[in-house]
Amino acid sequence: MEGPLADQVAIVTGGGQGIGRAIALRLAQDGMDVVVADRQGERAEAVAAEVRGTARRALALTVDVTVADDRQRMLDTTLASFGQLDVLVNNAAIQRAALPLDVTEEHWDALMNVNAKAVYFCCQLALSHMAERRSGRIVNMASIAGKLASTIYHPVYNVSKAAVIAMTKTFALAHAADGIRINAVCPGVVDTPMQEVVDREFARVVGKSPAEIRAERVGRIPMNRIERPEEVAAMVSFLVGPDSGYITGEAFNVSGGILTG
Ligand SMILES: NC(=O)c1ccc[n+]([C@@H]2O[C@H](COP(=O)([O-])OP(=O)(O)OC[C@H]3O[C@@H](n4cnc5c(N)ncnc54)[C@H](O)[C@@H]3O)[C@@H](O)[C@H]2O)c1
Repeated sequence: MEGPLADQVAIVTGGGQGIGRAIALRLAQDGMDVVVADRQGERAEAVAAEVRGTARRALALTVDVTVADDRQRMLDTTLASFGQLDVLVNNAAIQRAALPLDVTEEHWDALMNVNAKAVYFCCQLALSHMAERRSGRIVNMASIAGKLASTIYHPVYNVSKAAVIAMTKTFALAHAADGIRINAVCPGVVDTPMQEVVDREFARVVGKSPAEIRAERVGRIPMNRIERPEEVAAMVSFLVGPDSGYITGEAFNVSGGILTG
């Protein structure tokens, strides 16, 4: 199949549902073969089957990105199966709510391990391969929460996404001369299973119903509607494609106007 990224290979972490699924399908539409890595193996397999339906090759891997052996197996299996890695999308993350003074060390570690530490070491692993080839692109899924602390109800999530933006810029500078581009995407309020967790968790913390929370959050979006996962995937497609060839170290908002600049 022809496409701007024909026959290149991408790994999408957290590709089993939500934004990751949309990214896997969009990159396949662009012509890429896709490794769908998720700790929910059956979901990864279902998305890989959808990718194969677009006539691209796909591999589903059960991977917990917080586990070093899993990360190494993800790279090794990708290289053994497809021979190369052109694109890594670090999309896997988790959500949990608590007021700032109620955060425990266990809460901090759980969030930071998945949302920040694993992203750092997935970048490190992919870069060892990409630097040797002197080519590659990485997109890290951050959030507007990492720029403006969008609510006080998920303080560690805010911190984790700020860390993602900082590591994106650092890795981008370190590898700009190697022909590798690394950028981040900052979505707003996206219609995914995670959003249901957010509604439920905020409802628990502030004593409202999940439906009230959802209505309030969507009501604050200038474009007056929730974001579709495909609208995040379109930005990822741009950032790994040839039209963004001179862009690295950026963190782009895709938030319907919640955050401008
Ligand atoms: N939904 C939103 O409104 C929103 C907004 C801004 C940023 N984001 C970010 O976009 C990304 C995707 O979010 P989503 O809404 O699709 O989330 P989601 O919860 O619907 O999907 C996340 C996927 O990641 C996987 N995952 C979680 N922990 C993992 C681990 N340790 N190892 C491997 N896989 C793991 C889950 O199994 C799941 O399939 C995340 O980085 C999230 O922080 C989402």
